[in-house]
Amino acid sequence: MSLLSSALKRINPSPTIAISNKARELKAGGRDIIALSAGEPDFDTPDNIKEAAIAAIRRGETKYTAVDGMPELKAAICRKFKRENGLDYKPSQVTVGTGGKQVLFNALVATVDAGDEVLIPAPFWVSYPDIVQFCGGTPVSVPTTIEDNFKLRPDVLEAHITPKTKWLIFNSPSNPSGAAYSWDELKALTDVLLRHPHVWILTDDMYEHLVYDDFKFVTPAQVEPKLYDRTLTMNGVSKAYCMTGWRIGYAAGPEPLIKAIGTLQSQSTSNPSSIAQWAALEALDGPQDFIAENNKVFKERRDLVVSMLNQSKGLNCPKPEGAFYVFPSCAGTIGKKAPSGKVIATDEDFAAELLDSEGVAVVHGSAFGLGPAFRISYATATSDLEEACRRIQRFCGSLV
Ligand SMILES: Cc1ncc(COP(=O)(O)O)c(C=O)c1O
Repeated sequence: MSLLSSALKRINPSPTIAISNKARELKAGGRDIIALSAGEPDFDTPDNIKEAAIAAIRRGETKYTAVDGMPELKAAICRKFKRENGLDYKPSQVTVGTGGKQVLFNALVATVDAGDEVLIPAPFWVSYPDIVQFCGGTPVSVPTTIEDNFKLRPDVLEAHITPKTKWLIFNSPSNPSGAAYSWDELKALTDVLLRHPHVWILTDDMYEHLVYDDFKFVTPAQVEPKLYDRTLTMNGVSKAYCMTGWRIGYAAGPEPLIKAIGTLQSQSTSNPSSIAQWAALEALDGPQDFIAENNKVFKERRDLVVSMLNQSKGLNCPKPEGAFYVFPSCAGTIGKKAPSGKVIATDEDFAAELLDSEGVAVVHGSAFGLGPAFRISYATATSDLEEACRRIQRFCGSLV
């Protein structure tokens, strides 16, 4: 009898975490490595948020809280949805989990049965298909193209909906492409969804605040209020508030779904850390001006990276609206020979040879369901980014 369950056998370790670990090992072994593979801001958590956590410890807020989030934090989340998204949610429609990842995991485990199809526009965040597979569901990759800046087209969405479609997972700004949808672009998609009332919408708004050039973020239930009753709006403090290690994510949606997520959480992790919840409350209610300051730096880095990658032979890099990723195509390098003598047949080869010959760690696009391409995270010191891009230019120039 096999030790491992069939559910576990359907999933793989996260490739982005695996590549970051490999880069860390090589660095520890003495190699000069620049890792552009991690999905977290290089900025520290703002002091007011840290102080709120310290004060919570001193006050003795160190006990269990309500399983799906303490009332004070839920109230702050309701205020956030009203203030920033124009969405009305009651605290009973809000759930708080240990990171956005747990909220997403619980939502899918609570709703996806064997045979259910979940539409996932590609390129996608690596965890979506694996969680769906864990549930026994069928992830359906819905392709986008570089010509459309990796944004889902309404006709392509429509063509992938079947009677078995349970969810569309929507992620704007996107990890890994950085693409973010304007009101009109999103409205064209919600118009399709209106015609298919059996399809639920799970919108992952984790990168909401990380948008540049005056881009205006919008979310499905805001653009099409008729979808409010079948939308789960997920968000968190990890990225915008530089709180990846604190592990707080949240979602709002119809009460029965929120209750089901809470039931699952009550039999697994119980409440997210009480201290991190107090910190998240300060993040949402406290000063927001540091976000614009961080974004100024992110925007400069995005512009630098896009420009330097587009000067690299065989690469083509669109300029995305948000997040801290770019997703250049490396189609022009496929079939070429690397300095090691190896022919680059796939984007995975491209990433492996780049790491080997220049010590730059990136994640291959096929890990995100669309290649040949790769993802660069520019949440890294500007000087390192510049050096990494110089190395990428040199590597691309060395291919014959
Ligand atoms: C698109 C997307 N959604 C969700 C998450 C999960 O965030 P958290 O760290 O809050 O679990 C990430 C983190 O990388 C992400 O990129």
